[in-house]
Amino acid sequence: MIMNRRQMLIGLSAAALPQPIRAEGSRVILRPTKVDMVVEGRLIEMIGFNNSVPGPEIRVGRNETLSARLENTLEEGTMIHWHGIRLPNAMDGVNVLTQDAVIPGGSFDYRFAVPDAGTFWYHSHYLSLDQVSRGMFGPLIVEELDPPEVDQDITIQLFDILTDAEGNFDRTFHTSHYTTEGRLGDVMMAFSSSYQTRVGERLRLRVINPSVDRVFKITLQGMSGVVVALDGMPLVAPQLLGDMVLAPGQRVDVIGDVDADVLVLESSSVEPLLLAKISATGSRDKRNAAITPLPPNGLPQPGRITQSVGLVMQGGAGGKPHGGFGSWAFNDVSGLPRAPLLSAQRGETILMQLRNDTAFPHGIHLHGHHFWETDERRAPTVLRDTTLVEAGETKEILCVFDNPGAWLIHCHMLSHQEDGMATWLQVA
Ligand code: C2O
Ligand code: CU
Repeated sequence: MIMNRRQMLIGLSAAALPQPIRAEGSRVILRPTKVDMVVEGRLIEMIGFNNSVPGPEIRVGRNETLSARLENTLEEGTMIHWHGIRLPNAMDGVNVLTQDAVIPGGSFDYRFAVPDAGTFWYHSHYLSLDQVSRGMFGPLIVEELDPPEVDQDITIQLFDILTDAEGNFDRTFHTSHYTTEGRLGDVMMAFSSSYQTRVGERLRLRVINPSVDRVFKITLQGMSGVVVALDGMPLVAPQLLGDMVLAPGQRVDVIGDVDADVLVLESSSVEPLLLAKISATGSRDKRNAAITPLPPNGLPQPGRITQSVGLVMQGGAGGKPHGGFGSWAFNDVSGLPRAPLLSAQRGETILMQLRNDTAFPHGIHLHGHHFWETDERRAPTVLRDTTLVEAGETKEILCVFDNPGAWLIHCHMLSHQEDGMATWLQVA
């Protein structure tokens, strides 16, 4: 882990992440615990899972069953959401809609099959702005039945922490965080599951953005390759590696060959910041085999559009007044309305028009499904579970609602979610 504070480059020694947990056939226990994290030589009190921030990486094969028991050892309620997994509604970990908070001393058993191979993650979905910013998240990797041949499969998590004048975790949540781009940390970092490679190695990098509000713009240096998946879903046509933008919640999978030290750079400012370095020592013969697309997960293709629904993002600093009481709203309502945004018959294809009427970007996340982004001709392009809608932008997505239940749709900038930008839909 290498950290940067206010444009200054401060390299810290690489923190060892715990070994991944294999989840087939046994129950994973997830226990939130206090964790002291070293940031610039100071200990910052965070909350992770099983004594680690980020929580342990969970790995499971496609179509296997994941059993995980959440044992709440905190003095506050919590619950876990399995971001991007198309699972039964009751296992989705959403307050009010699917379960009650697991009270202190209580536990909850999550158990579901994982239908799609790809890069997913889990995180607290209760008081989530607070709990995720304190470290309650981790990777959930679903392996292909026949995974691509690589020398290393590396998970990289982008994160930031807001510290106060003393350098401690800032526990205050300022109004300015709620009404603007959110609670952006002053210390940025990337946790990598490996910091060593060789020239010529073929790497799979799974980049996840679990940060609460920050849109990470990153560049990879030292390797040549392609983007093979977005939000866990394989691209039919892998894209050449360039700058990558990850809204909170989004993932990008890259496969490429190492030419030199692999650098993960935050590239939104003029001076790129080094977030992580995977050092190349030694070499191996380069692989000749071409990098091929990952096997598709076989999600249903969109059919005839039977409903069109608008979702208008409103509020925030500089935004027009709206009918909701919070800083942010969807369609004039802040927080969960009594009636769903839409009711779908199982299998219906619905066009959703996401219109951003605010002065800030929003990362819109749909639970229980992936959706298609579309081109100007309304043809489906890529599958995602979270899409970034820039200020003033309108995006059309196509969704095949084939998973019954009450599903949340919200902005994954968790400050915005907390202050009203969330609604739900019902699939019969
Ligand atoms: Cu990743 Cu509703 O959350
Ligand atoms: Cu938002």
